[in-house]
Amino acid sequence: MIKIENVSFKYKESGMILNNLNFQINEGEILAIVGKNGSGKSTIGKLISGILKLKNGKILIDNIEISKNKNAKELNSKVGIVFQNPENQIIFSNINDEIAFSLQNLSKEEIEKRIKTSLQKVDMLEAIQKDLYTLSLGQKQRVMIAEVLAKNPKYIILDEPTTMIDSTGKEKIYEIIKNLKSQGYTIICITNLADEILLADRTLILENGQIVAEIHKNELAEKINILKKYEIKIPTILEIIEKLKEKGINIELQDYNVEQLVNSLNKVCNLE
Ligand SMILES: Nc1ncnc2c1ncn2[C@@H]1O[C@H](COP(=O)(O)OP(=O)(O)OP(=O)(O)O)[C@@H](O)[C@H]1O
Ligand SMILES: [Mg+2]
Repeated sequence: MIKIENVSFKYKESGMILNNLNFQINEGEILAIVGKNGSGKSTIGKLISGILKLKNGKILIDNIEISKNKNAKELNSKVGIVFQNPENQIIFSNINDEIAFSLQNLSKEEIEKRIKTSLQKVDMLEAIQKDLYTLSLGQKQRVMIAEVLAKNPKYIILDEPTTMIDSTGKEKIYEIIKNLKSQGYTIICITNLADEILLADRTLILENGQIVAEIHKNELAEKINILKKYEIKIPTILEIIEKLKEKGINIELQDYNVEQLVNSLNKVCNLE
C-alpha cells in the first residue's frame, strides 16, 4: 500500500501546487487520478516515484517512508513510471539495449530473462529484433511499459499513457493495463481521458492541490454529477446510461462496455 500523508509541494518558482494532500493506493487496484490541466497530477506521480524530492508530509511505500529511507534504490525499484510521450523516453534504437540499460547490475542471463518476460507482458516479444524508431507510437509506449516492468516494480504509475496514441493503440494498452492488474500489479493511471476512468477501480479527483472526490467504479453512473462539477470529461457510456435514466430506463453495469450495455438493454426491453 502507498500512503500519502499531509503532502504539500511547491516548485521553486511556483505557488502551492499540492495542498496538504492525503490519500492511499491499495494493493492490486487500478487507481485513476484526474483533474484539470495544471492541477498537480504529474507532480504527484513524480513525488511517489522519487523523481521530485518530498519536502512536506510523508509518503509511505509498504510502510517505509520515502524520504527517510536509506536504501533509496530498493524503494525506487518498487515504483515504476511511464510518461505521456514514448519518444521523449527512448534512449536506444535497439529494444534489447533500451530495456537492458536500466538493469545494469544484473547477470547477463537475468537481464535476458527479464527483457523477454517484460516484452511478453506487453505483447511485444515478436518485435525484439526491431528498431524502436520503426515502431508505431503505441508500440513504442508498450516497450516503455516493458522497460519499467523489467525492473520488477510492484506499483506502476502511468502518466497519461495513451494521450498521444491512436484509438487502436489505446485499446491495446487498455488490454495490457487490465492484464497487469490481473497479474497483481498496482496501477496508478494519471489521466485526462474519459475512457481511462472506466478502467479504474477507483477514481480520485484533484483540484487546487487536494483530493475533492473519490468515486468507486460501481458508483460512476450515480455520481456523474460530481465528474461534471469538476469539469472532468464524461465517458460516453456513462452519458448513455444517464440519458436512458432520464427516459425512465435504469441500467446497472458491472463493467462499462458496449457489450454489457447492449445485453442489459435487451433484458430491460424483454421485460417490458
Ligand atoms: N518544474 C516546474 N517549475 C515550476 N512550476 C512547475 C514545474 N512543473 C510543473 N509546474 C507547475 O505546477 C502545476 C502542476 O503541474 P503538473 O504538471 O503537476 O499538472 P498536471 O495536472 O499534470 O497537468 P497536465 O494535465 O497539463 O499534465 C502547473 O501549474 C505547472 O505549471
Ligand atoms: Mg501532467
